[in-house]
Amino acid sequence: MDSNKKKVVHDENDKGHRYGNFHSYYNFHPPSDRIVPLFEKYFPNLMDVIIQHPNNDNNDNNDNSNPTFIANEKKGEEKRRMLTYCDLGCNEGDLTLAMANELHKRSSLNVRSFGIDIDAELIRRANKKCETLLKDDGVEASFEGGDLTNASDHLNVCENFFRSDADCRSDEEAGEGEGEGKQIQRHRRVCFDLCSIFSTTMWIHVHSGDEGLKLFLKRASAMCNVLLIEPQPSKWYGYFCYFYSQEDVFV
Ligand SMILES: C[S@@+](CC[C@H](N)C(=O)[O-])C[C@H]1O[C@@H](n2cnc3c(N)ncnc32)[C@H](O)[C@@H]1O
Repeated sequence: MDSNKKKVVHDENDKGHRYGNFHSYYNFHPPSDRIVPLFEKYFPNLMDVIIQHPNNDNNDNNDNSNPTFIANEKKGEEKRRMLTYCDLGCNEGDLTLAMANELHKRSSLNVRSFGIDIDAELIRRANKKCETLLKDDGVEASFEGGDLTNASDHLNVCENFFRSDADCRSDEEAGEGEGEGKQIQRHRRVCFDLCSIFSTTMWIHVHSGDEGLKLFLKRASAMCNVLLIEPQPSKWYGYFCYFYSQEDVFV
């Protein structure tokens, strides 16, 4: 990929072809067709991997321990009662909410889920869908807009999610001036039990190049215990090139 080209500007009239922000995506990709094979065929031990992750063995010397669990302990609640889940590139939320319901069903733990997408209209719809698609009181969800190719956007929205109820350290303590070490410190206090990236890596790749994709994946994995990626096959890149071969993108 040519990494000398610049990013394109978001065009509202694009109908989803530029960022994959399709507005009727779930009419032709029902979450039920994806959830069952995911848990039963491809990753039958996914729940065990999440629940038994060593970072959940929370102790004072473990810098990587999950802040959700720490917060619960501080409040005197049972140590393991909540899972946190983040879906990167969530579109209008149907798959995120189906995943959250499934994680709750399979673990019997409360689930707090969070989705991020670049398209504000999709985020508005996703927040609205929480009213109808969440199946149990033990599952919560919220969605925020953000550009995942932008490190500050990515980190800030995730921090806000944890800040909303966890007892995070202050910004001064974590460092605002942002050397690489400070950024890693900030990532460490933002740790989801599970992050997913479903059919979004290609869009990140074509807009931010090889290096941008690598950095995005590095950030995503630093902010979770378990990272689940459904990459697009290379032949799909041809579709994007067909539409945007004349544009200033990384193809
Ligand atoms: C093909 S859809 C996949 C939606 C969902 N993850 C799924 O698999 O059902 C890709 C999503 O990634 C989002 N996206 C693309 N580039 C993004 C970026 N830089 N930041 C945040 N979201 C982005 C799009 O808006 C779109 O909703």
